[in-house]
Amino acid sequence: MSAKILYGKEFAAKIKESARVEVDDLKNKFGVTPGLAVIIVGENPASQVYVRNKHKTCEELGIKSEVIAMPETSTKEDLLSKIDELNAAADIHGILVQLPLPDAIKSHSEEILNRIDPLKDVDGFHPVNVGKLVTGSPALVPCTPAGCLEMLDLAGIEIDGKRAVIIGRSNIVGKPMLHLLMARHATVTVCHSHTKNLADVTREAEILVAAMGKPKFVTADMIRQGAVVVDVGINRIAPKKLVGDVDFDAAVEVASAITPVPGGVGLLTVAMLMKNVVKATKLQLKVKT
Ligand code: GUN
Repeated sequence: MSAKILYGKEFAAKIKESARVEVDDLKNKFGVTPGLAVIIVGENPASQVYVRNKHKTCEELGIKSEVIAMPETSTKEDLLSKIDELNAAADIHGILVQLPLPDAIKSHSEEILNRIDPLKDVDGFHPVNVGKLVTGSPALVPCTPAGCLEMLDLAGIEIDGKRAVIIGRSNIVGKPMLHLLMARHATVTVCHSHTKNLADVTREAEILVAAMGKPKFVTADMIRQGAVVVDVGINRIAPKKLVGDVDFDAAVEVASAITPVPGGVGLLTVAMLMKNVVKATKLQLKVKT
């Protein structure tokens, strides 16, 4: 049996369409245009592509987009004062600092990100938002795991009561994914580099999320027959060759549904960012989200 392939493009289109409707609503009912500011420091080519993509998607959906390109030589203080300015700007509802920051200020990333007003933190990285996610209060949630959940819902995949296993415990994917799945009543296990007998654990998963950043690490024998496999890995193994954390060609024969790489959950991240800008706008207007 060959798995159903969950292509990110069709889910991203649906998520963006629902964001567009909400943007129009905010304009019509409240006279407010949601605004996103993206700060990019230096000339990292991959970051430049991501930022252009965010800008283009904002324009598509009628969200005001401000890209702030700061020089490689910017100091921590330069960034903190730019963030203070954006925190106070009434027409900016979401602020995102594109990562990674240049080497000279990388060690200050946490302090810089924590300066963002939690209500404008559309990446969902601020400890206030992390805390709200853990306690189950409405929060801005990191875009990639939130996109995975949205995709499972749109694909009609039941989560309640399911046995879910996540490989990878990063702050950006693994940990938020744990809380999102647990809040939806899955029984969740998080595996990582010190997990013993990993395959024994992953073979229990009805929903398996691979997010540890190791090319084609998850092989067919690690997957339960009929599992839903969500591959969050993006690994460049040659200049023009991207692969996920899952050995797709083998896994597709065992899983009941699987996301490809490229063309899978990566496309959902920008779509969810747009939803987060809308959510942040509503939180600031104190409108129900
Ligand atoms: N760089 C790569 N992924 C991300 C992300 O999700 N947020 C930010 N701010 N930077 C990134």
